[in-house]
Amino acid sequence: MKKRIISLALVLTMVLALFAGCGNDGGSASGEYADKKVGVCIYQFSDNFMTLYRTELENYLISLGFSKNNITIVDGANDQATQTNQIQNFITDGVDVLIINPVNSSSAATITDMVVAANIPLVYINREPSKEEQERWKTNGWNVCYVGCDARQSGTMQGEIIGDLGLDKIDLNGDGKIQYIMVEGDPENIDAQYRTEFSIKALEDAGFTVDCLDDQVGNWDQVQGQTIVANALAAHGNDIEVVFCNNDAMALGAIQAIKAAGRTVGTDIFLVGVDALTEACEYVISGEMTGTVFNDHIAQSHGAADCAVKFIKGEKVDIYVGCDYVKVTKDNAQKILDSLK
Ligand code: GAL
Repeated sequence: MKKRIISLALVLTMVLALFAGCGNDGGSASGEYADKKVGVCIYQFSDNFMTLYRTELENYLISLGFSKNNITIVDGANDQATQTNQIQNFITDGVDVLIINPVNSSSAATITDMVVAANIPLVYINREPSKEEQERWKTNGWNVCYVGCDARQSGTMQGEIIGDLGLDKIDLNGDGKIQYIMVEGDPENIDAQYRTEFSIKALEDAGFTVDCLDDQVGNWDQVQGQTIVANALAAHGNDIEVVFCNNDAMALGAIQAIKAAGRTVGTDIFLVGVDALTEACEYVISGEMTGTVFNDHIAQSHGAADCAVKFIKGEKVDIYVGCDYVKVTKDNAQKILDSLK
């Protein structure tokens, strides 16, 4: 009898353990939003920053109670026609909410019209649609919002990181001006436009005189960044005092070009990026990059998922959900890295 009770208890424990295990599996149907379908469109999977972003977004959605099987993330391959097709497919599939990182911000009006007509709530991320477009969502009371940071702030911080070094340190040729080159992201993207403009504005506002030796588009891409900086170093040599890159991927390319040209960051050239990719933070710590700016993919992806949930629950959502950038220099790079673990 005693033996039977023990084996019964054992079976019971096993069954209970089996049920308990289900709750932790993102693929199971037990979470609060497990039956809700989320469609996520990313402009391009090969983008380093957007890879961090989409990984965090998926994990966070699962932690909120969505099922992994009902979260579909697609790669727009940097082609608006491809992405528009993907959005159409999500509409046909009847997703409950869409999270879209548009290939072209200028296509937002077309995308919004398609999605609103299908009565699906829409969260734009990373590439901010125009203010006029945002006005339209507000005026019409549509379930559409944008989650992202103000790129002006990241540009300003880049300029400040350089300016804080002081003219004596930066002005290697002693002509009283800061000679720089600019490596831009995709110019259709407001992040690229603002970072280019506001990094330099911050220097000028601090009283520096600047001299642009070259300004090229590297499309957020490491290889293109490397080529642009290698060419600029070949053309302008020691005249280049500062390299501004609109993001870290291109700055990582710049580091390779700077090393190949026999130059040393912190000694005879200065380099800043944006994003605070792990590699970039490590380079800031080792001194191979002057600084970067933390583009908080965690706050942004969580903000986007939280908006999606509010839409699903029928709650009010703000048209614009912002977040702050953080300046990253040798002083706090390790702290930023630790916070990302
Ligand atoms: C920026 C980011 C870049 C790139 C771009 C894509 O915010 O700094 O690295 O990911 O978004 O739109």
